[in-house]
Amino acid sequence: MKGRPLLPFAIIAIIGILVMISLSFVGLNQRAEMNSEETEEEVTEIEDPIAAGEQMVQASCIGCHGGDLSGGAGPALTSLEGKYSQEEIADIVMKGMGGMPPVNDNEVEADAIAQYLLSISE
Ligand code: HEC
Repeated sequence: MKGRPLLPFAIIAIIGILVMISLSFVGLNQRAEMNSEETEEEVTEIEDPIAAGEQMVQASCIGCHGGDLSGGAGPALTSLEGKYSQEEIADIVMKGMGGMPPVNDNEVEADAIAQYLLSISE
């Protein structure tokens, strides 16, 4: 290797840097798009809260509270009536409680979850 052996490396390095910069711009754009979609689709109303609540419970609660909600890492959720009000349950979903992390910070969804749990309460 004679002459300037560093030049090819410098070119490759510059190309690499340009690729990285353009990729990060693509990433930023995608993130901005995702964010705007999220805000557009922010749930503010649920038509059938009990059915929607059931789906959300199946999706986000059974991992800890058991497939039939009879308890697991967390206590059973099958007899909350009389123990917690709808508002209190929604609050637990949004803020967590003791060993339970916050699960869903959307008030309307948390409220639908609470309605569903009270509807199945024995
Ligand atoms: C990461 C595991 C985990 C997930 C996921 C989880 N929980 Fe919990 N939950 C717990 C634990 C642990 C407790 C007990 C907390 C305590 O008493 O300190 C608890 C307690 C509760 C309580 C109070 C029960 C009682 O009898 O006092 C309610 C209500 C509840 N969870 C509802 C939900 C709902 C609804 C979801 C889904 C939206 C959910 N949890 C998801 C772990 C979880």
